[in-house]
Amino acid sequence: MTAPRQPPTVLFVDDDPDLREGIGESFELAGIAVQVFSSADLVLERVTRSLNGIIVTDIRMPGMDGASLMRSALEIDPALPVIVITGHGDVPMAVETMRDGAYDFIEKPFAMDRLLIACRRALEKRRLVLEVRALRDVLDQQKALAARLVGRSWAMERLRAEITALAGTDANVLIHGETGSGKEVVARALHDFSERAEKPFVAINCGALPADIIESELFGHEAGAFTGAARQRIGKIEHAAGGTVFLDEIESMPLDLQVKLLRTIEERRIERLGSNRSIGVDVRFVAATKEDLAAASASGRFRADLYYRLDVANLHIPPLRERRDDIPLLFFHLAREARARYRREIPEMTPEMEARLLAHDWPGNVRELRNVADRFVLGLYRIAEDAPRPREAPGMDERSLAERVDDFERAQIRAELKRSEGRLKPVYERLQISRKGLYDKMRRLGIEGAEG
Ligand SMILES: Nc1ncnc2c1ncn2[C@@H]1O[C@H](COP(=O)(O)OP(=O)(O)OP(=O)(O)O)[C@@H](O)[C@H]1O
Ligand SMILES: [Mg+2]
Repeated sequence: MTAPRQPPTVLFVDDDPDLREGIGESFELAGIAVQVFSSADLVLERVTRSLNGIIVTDIRMPGMDGASLMRSALEIDPALPVIVITGHGDVPMAVETMRDGAYDFIEKPFAMDRLLIACRRALEKRRLVLEVRALRDVLDQQKALAARLVGRSWAMERLRAEITALAGTDANVLIHGETGSGKEVVARALHDFSERAEKPFVAINCGALPADIIESELFGHEAGAFTGAARQRIGKIEHAAGGTVFLDEIESMPLDLQVKLLRTIEERRIERLGSNRSIGVDVRFVAATKEDLAAASASGRFRADLYYRLDVANLHIPPLRERRDDIPLLFFHLAREARARYRREIPEMTPEMEARLLAHDWPGNVRELRNVADRFVLGLYRIAEDAPRPREAPGMDERSLAERVDDFERAQIRAELKRSEGRLKPVYERLQISRKGLYDKMRRLGIEGAEG
């Protein structure tokens, strides 16, 4: 992800120049990367928790001695192997360093082979420690992401895995999803879980502003670039230096600006309006669209070349109605947030309400669900008049009788599944149908979980 990876390295410190030279050669012949140092503090500067290497140190040295080096290094990372070289007959000191956490000690004069074997073992131990830590980091990251991008549907699991995989790269990402489906949440996660996290995340809504304003917002301008440009202004792309630019509603960006944006993305350079000096910018571009940009570019409403540039990686967020499994978890997550915001308790949920939440079509997606959760916590949710009704068209329900029956059945089964925490037995018993009957219905109605 970052700089090219260094091979596992032995950091060797000894004040004796002859020994340093001999050691360097022996390690090279043995195929082990080594860096030699003349004093302990130079080694200590290199020690981090992610150090891909081990320390071999002489014990008696002018300045910081080997035992102090070892103790300081172990304070930074207690799992770092330190091999200590002691003078002949210095057994008490060897014992003491072992007690303080040395990985091994070697008595002078020593056979080179003995040192090489100890180093190989220590390097292998280090490799395992770093590997376990990397795995744990990934798990922690997954947990943090799942707390932010809530959902247990397969689609959400996949989305989170894709975000984790993409966050560490600088690939341009295009996020596609209906209104309120979580595009901004995804864009921020891409930024916050990347190495750019400490740098700015700058969002610009390409649909909300007139073309000329977007242009100067994005690229900035020099004083006098146009009427009204009294002072120089740094644009959002420049402002995001080192971070992420989020181009929201990219589908509504005017065509002539698209050309300019394309050039910026390709060259990673901008020119402020009214200037012809080009400035290099280190930013990552994440764009979001409600529209199918492939179709928009096929029909000429969006530049195909820009579309391909942005679409290096594509994250699709399915609408909530296509991942109904997420509704209960999301609802309670949003209700808990509302509880914190309004300092109210979460009221008891009735089965009817739950069935309605599950059956509703959610054209406003998670944002709409969030509004319902807010109203619910505020005690404003009344089933009779308020609750979103299944696929309610204004005025008239256009579903056939069969569709209405299906929707009703689906909602009932989902509510029972929720009650039984996904176990099927209580569900078919309560509904007084056979196990097979339940399976068949779940499959026909597209309810997930029919495998258990
Ligand atoms: N998976 C999720 N987990 C938790 N909260 C979510 C999730 N998805 C969306 N939200 C919340 O729903 C609301 C809408 O999300 P967001 O603003 O990201 O949607 P959007 O796709 O950018 O909407 P728009 O198309 O209107 O710009 C926000 O309050 C957001 O925090
Ligand atoms: Mg948005």
